[in-house]
Amino acid sequence: MERSFIMAKPDAVQRRFVAEIIRRFETRGLRLVGMKLIHPSRELAEAHYAVHRERPFFNDLVEFITSGPVVAMVWEGKDIITVTRTMIGATNPVNAAPGTIRGDLAIEMGNNLVHGSDALETAEKEIALWFTPSELLP
Ligand code: RTP
Ligand code: MG
Repeated sequence: MERSFIMAKPDAVQRRFVAEIIRRFETRGLRLVGMKLIHPSRELAEAHYAVHRERPFFNDLVEFITSGPVVAMVWEGKDIITVTRTMIGATNPVNAAPGTIRGDLAIEMGNNLVHGSDALETAEKEIALWFTPSELLP
């Protein structure tokens, strides 16, 4: 069964949307196999978003993701990447469809509430970065 790394970002924790975000994935029928509340270090944030290192928004992105605690999760299910990315919605919440997390609850690009891995290979790397194997259900 395929797995993805999902994170409720600092704005989601601050706005008390953690339960709402988990509820959406649970009711869709996905299986939660790992979860922890963590205030990411700069090193962890930079490693997580390493693919964006050369982009002009990289520093703001790292500042944002280290600005408070996040809820790091691993979810499992059929076609997990497509299902979770569709439920999360477009990167810029202005373009996110109603019914998606970003389309219903966010409006700013820099505060888009949730991260979801964009491919199975990315998911594998992100899960290994945020979790040890013993922190995940078999
Ligand atoms: P994420 O990785 O956070 O789940 O978001 P995503 O896949 O939808 O978007 P991605 O392209 O991976 O970008 C990561 C985060 O960087 C910020 N961003 N800003 N100013 C810009 O042009 C710009 N582009 C991206 C967003 O906060 C995005 O979530
Ligand atoms: Mg991304």
